[in-house]
Amino acid sequence: MAPRKLAAGNWKMNGDLASLTEIDQLCKAHPEPGCDMLICPPALLVYPMVASAQTHALMVGGQDCHAKESGAHTGDISAAQLRDAGADYVILGHSERRADHGETNADVAAKAAAAHQAGLIAIICVGETEAQRDAGETLSVIGDQIAGSLPERSDSANTVIAYEPVWAIGTGRTPTNEQIAEVHGFIRRQLDGRTGDAVNLRLLYGGSVKPVNAAEIFAIPNVDGALVGGASLKAADFGGIVAAL
Ligand code: G3P
Repeated sequence: MAPRKLAAGNWKMNGDLASLTEIDQLCKAHPEPGCDMLICPPALLVYPMVASAQTHALMVGGQDCHAKESGAHTGDISAAQLRDAGADYVILGHSERRADHGETNADVAAKAAAAHQAGLIAIICVGETEAQRDAGETLSVIGDQIAGSLPERSDSANTVIAYEPVWAIGTGRTPTNEQIAEVHGFIRRQLDGRTGDAVNLRLLYGGSVKPVNAAEIFAIPNVDGALVGGASLKAADFGGIVAAL
């Protein structure tokens, strides 16, 4: 049976307590969504969002976690703390963290191992820059990221992979359907040797997904959902994407 699709929203460094009204609207408009529905707000909003979505189908996740369980790491949060606050997922290795915080594939793998240990599902992000695509390096970059960023014992129950071409994030530009199909098919084949259940591991596409292009993107082979930035901030926009899955 094909895995249940996932509509995941990444609020990045946006939103405040008042934004939780968007969550109320989203949950009311989609009481029984046809896909898994997830929002990853800034860490400060995880707990209040879990509380406000309590009786609904919405799941909540973090946007990063530390590789260690606890200790002297000022400003960081652990996977166990996210879990304790009610999170089910955590996004790891987003290109913005790789660029802004110098996160390497090995860092991402260590964080994902911590997330698995704490009972979180890790959404591991991969994606090429525009220069890498222009240089014909897309598949080798993605191959290295997959090989280096997934910890041992990654499987369809604890891991999701999000393909987010860096040049498509927040730009309104998306790859062609053929380009998305090529990369998602490539990722599926890379996973084959690594996990026993590669066919069930959900592969999300991310980068300028909107209600208007969601259905077309979701029809591409090996696309099991989306990781959505800007369009996840408004209930109506994200709801349109949820409805397309
Ligand atoms: O993680 C989601 C993301 O990077 C895509 O952002 O705004 O292009 O949907 P956006």
